Amino acid sequence: MPTQLRIAYVLLALVVFGSGFATAARLVQSGGGESPHFRLFDQANQEAGQRVFQTRCFVCHGRGGKGDGPSATGLAEKPQDLTDSNWQRTTSDDRIRSVIQGGGPAIGKTGAMPPNPDLTQEQIQGLVAFVRSLAAH
Ligand code: HEC
Repeated sequence: MPTQLRIAYVLLALVVFGSGFATAARLVQSGGGESPHFRLFDQANQEAGQRVFQTRCFVCHGRGGKGDGPSATGLAEKPQDLTDSNWQRTTSDDRIRSVIQGGGPAIGKTGAMPPNPDLTQEQIQGLVAFVRSLAAH
């Protein structure tokens, strides 16, 4: 029965090749850009971002990000309510990064939102993660 044997070999080869392929795909995924590995990294910076937020952003945006900080009333423009789900949905991480680094004018808004050129990329990434965590669930 050489034909059946050949079919058995082909099936075996498919199974071995298939599972090897699946393992390789998983390995690539765990090291890749959009993987859970990357999310863990995001959340690691979130604590640093929260510390920065509670030292320099809260004066305008408020401890909880609602735009009700102690300095908010004196501003020409009301600070964005960062918990607003509509704003969260329609804004991008890149835009949040830009406004933190360059201030309001970097995204066509007013200078009432000041620039923060001294922050490291890790701090900015952490702030983005923290701002995202403020989304009303
Ligand atoms: C001096 C007050 C003040 C401080 C400090 C401040 N902001 Fe703002 N922020 C504003 C105001 C005002 C706006 C709205 C500007 C406008 O609409 O023209 C704003 C807008 C924003 C926006 C929304 C941008 C958009 O998409 O419309 C984000 C995100 C933001 N701030 C994050 C931060 C973070 C993070 C920090 C701390 C690093 C910070 N802000 C510090 C006043 C402030």
